[in-house]
Amino acid sequence: MEALHLAKILLWGLFLHRCIVSVDSAVGVNWGTLSSHKLPPAVVVDLMRENKIGKVKLFDADPDVLRALKGSGIAVMVGIPNELLAVLASSIAASDLWVSQNVSRFMVKGGVDIRYVAVGNEPFLSSYQGRYQSLVLPAMLNIQQSLARANLGGYIKLVVPCNADAYQSASVPSQGVFRPELTQIMTQLVSFLNSNGSPFVVNIYPFLSLYQSADFPQDYAFFEGSSHPVVDGQNVYYNAFDGNFDTLVAALSKIGYGQMPIAIGEVGWPTEGAPCANVTAARAFNQGLISHILSNKGTPLRPGIPPVDIYLFSLLDEEQKSLLPGNFERHWGIYSFDGQAKYPLNLGLGNGWLKNAKNVPYLPSRWCVADPSQDITVVTNHMKLACSVADCTTLYFGGSCNAIGDKGNISYAFNSYYQLQKQDSRSCDFDGIGMITFLDPSVGDCRFLVGINDNNSSCTGCGIFCGLWMMALWVIIYLRVMSSL
Ligand SMILES: *[C@@H]1O[C@H](CO)[C@@H](O)[C@H](O)[C@H]1NC(C)=O
Ligand SMILES: *[C@@H]1O[C@H](CO)[C@@H](O)[C@H](O)[C@H]1NC(C)=O
Ligand SMILES: *[C@@H]1O[C@H](CO)[C@@H](O)[C@H](O)[C@H]1NC(C)=O
Repeated sequence: MEALHLAKILLWGLFLHRCIVSVDSAVGVNWGTLSSHKLPPAVVVDLMRENKIGKVKLFDADPDVLRALKGSGIAVMVGIPNELLAVLASSIAASDLWVSQNVSRFMVKGGVDIRYVAVGNEPFLSSYQGRYQSLVLPAMLNIQQSLARANLGGYIKLVVPCNADAYQSASVPSQGVFRPELTQIMTQLVSFLNSNGSPFVVNIYPFLSLYQSADFPQDYAFFEGSSHPVVDGQNVYYNAFDGNFDTLVAALSKIGYGQMPIAIGEVGWPTEGAPCANVTAARAFNQGLISHILSNKGTPLRPGIPPVDIYLFSLLDEEQKSLLPGNFERHWGIYSFDGQAKYPLNLGLGNGWLKNAKNVPYLPSRWCVADPSQDITVVTNHMKLACSVADCTTLYFGGSCNAIGDKGNISYAFNSYYQLQKQDSRSCDFDGIGMITFLDPSVGDCRFLVGINDNNSSCTGCGIFCGLWMMALWVIIYLRVMSSL
């Protein structure tokens, strides 16, 4: 027992040491995994290290991802999905189990440097109509206790990433208040965060303001100055980010926590899928944002105090994300799904432009296209079907493949489906209209993708050991069932 305790103290010493010597890099990234062409986690971790990215925010606690982060020195925020809040709020046993399976297990020497646990993801979003509202605090309290019991209470902080719709303002930033129905819960939440030294985490999206409102001044979304500044008494706002940030500061002040540290959980700009989403705009926004943060200017209500942390949304494109928000939802990455930088970006981490992923395990260089000798007037249904599971968002207005013609559209859809099916030759049939080609059909900016061989981390790839392990498991289950009869 004593030795274990000593080891833990030594371990914290190690962590502390690391945190003092390494430059606390300001810019981190969100790493979401809603993709059917997942890069192996180890490749993503190498990509982050190559780019000196020292902070990553996850949306869950995927063991494959956490294993890859072992020994990387990257500071990690793991997430508790909203769907788990109910059980974690109602059962301390569930929260103990969650912490032991998803946190403690990785907090060993040479393990994962988990610094934050995000309890829910935008749980107060107005479109959830209060579904998770009453669960957040009870879940937090349980997780807090479980962390304390695991001797991690002092090291790991709990946060709740909130959408910016948690607060509002009738006019200018200084009028910011939390949504009336959230006032009480926010007061309790912020008091809890404050007593634990946790920041308030908020997701801010000037892109969505521009996308959703026709009369939102275009230049106000960026950082180059605005011909429509917002004048708020003595303060003048030249960009939506600062305006939004200070609306939160004002809302926090009104409940008595004007000094609460703020971290940006998500911020970014998509590269396609909407008229105002393109590579030029994404680059201008992200680079402007990074320079703005690194200048340490802060905002009018917090001069000289930039956010404590900032996580770009997102590291990689995720082509299985919901299309409900719009086609752009699958194109938030500073990298495409396969870790290739979409535009030059300097993260301000002393490393120059983004560097691409190495050792990407692509499937063979082959594509599925519509056979040019076939009549393609009959394929609408095939195309619909292909696009209902594979990603075809680039074909639409504002997409990089919008101008490739009817035949191009069909080929693109066929190929997306074929790659989704890991190049299974049967998936390129389409009643004899599809054909496999070894010539890259990409045209201009429109890239016909080649999938990624990502099954080596799952069971199908682990061969005989996995088989033996499964057999052993069945034997154990069998024996258990027998003995309980
Ligand atoms: C650990 O986290 C994963 C991913 O979020 C989740 O699926 C799993 O249920 C968690 N484990 C427990 C015991 O809650
Ligand atoms: C890219 O988006 C910006 C900002 O919304 C817009 O002003 C510009 O016209 C777009 N560029 C192209 C080439 O569509
Ligand atoms: C390709 O499909 C997109 C999306 O349906 C459409 O906007 C575009 O017009 C199509 N192109 C042609 C030439 O049909």
